[in-house]
Amino acid sequence: MLGRFGFRASQPSVRHQSAGAAAGEMGLTTSLFNSTNEAPEISDEELEKLALYQMLAGVPIARDQTDPSVQYGKQLFQLAGCHNCHRFNIQTSNTVYPELNDQLIHPFTDLLLHDMGEGLADSRPEFSASGAEWRTTPLWGIGFLGTISPVRQHYLHDGRAKSLEEAILWHGGEAESSRNKFVDFSKLERASLISFLESL
Ligand code: HEC
Repeated sequence: MLGRFGFRASQPSVRHQSAGAAAGEMGLTTSLFNSTNEAPEISDEELEKLALYQMLAGVPIARDQTDPSVQYGKQLFQLAGCHNCHRFNIQTSNTVYPELNDQLIHPFTDLLLHDMGEGLADSRPEFSASGAEWRTTPLWGIGFLGTISPVRQHYLHDGRAKSLEEAILWHGGEAESSRNKFVDFSKLERASLISFLESL
C-alpha cells in the first residue's frame, strides 16, 4: 500500500501509524505489531477507536484571510512554488466513515515524498524512502504552534528550525528553487509570506 503517514510516509493508515507509535514509543503490543504469543495489550476494538478519534479531530479554521498582508503572502506562496508540494486542495475519497467522505480539505501537503537535499538528509532510510526524502509536512494549523509552545517553536522533522523563516531556509533538493525565490523576496514580501503561514 502507498504510505501516507509519518515523516517518511512509511505508514499506510492512521491505524497503522497509531499501532506503530504504540509499539515504538510506548512498548505496547497490538495485533499489527506483536512479537509475543500473548494477546495484544491494545485490542483491535480499542485500536479502531484510537484511530477514529484522531481521524475526526477538527482542524483549526484559518484566520485573518481578508488581511492584505496575508492575501499578499498567499500570492507569494504560489509565486515561489510552495504550493507545488504544500498543495491547497485535496478531495477525500470514500471510506467506511461517511463523515470523512468526499470532502474538499486544505491540508497544504501533497502527502508525497520529496528529495529535500543533503542539508536535511539523515542516514535512516525507510522502505523505499532514501535518507534525503521527506513527506511534505501539512501546514494547516501551523500558526498555532506559538500558542501550544509559547517559549520555543520547533519545525522540521528533527525540530532544528526555531522559526518559520529558518524552516524555509533549510529547504533544498527539489525545493531549492522555491527557497531561492523566498531569499530573493524583499523583507516586506518575506514578512507577508510568513504572515500567510501564521494565518493557517
Ligand atoms: C519540493 C517540495 C516542497 C516545496 C516546493 C516546499 N516545501 Fe516546505 N516542506 C517540504 C517537505 C518535504 C518538508 C518537511 C522537511 C523536513 O521535515 O525535514 C517541508 C517543511 C516545511 C515547513 C516546516 C513545517 C513543520 O511543521 O515542521 C514549512 C514552514 C514549509 N515547508 C514551508 C514552505 C514554504 C513557505 C515553501 C515555499 C517557499 C515551501 N515550503 C516549499 C516540501 C516542500
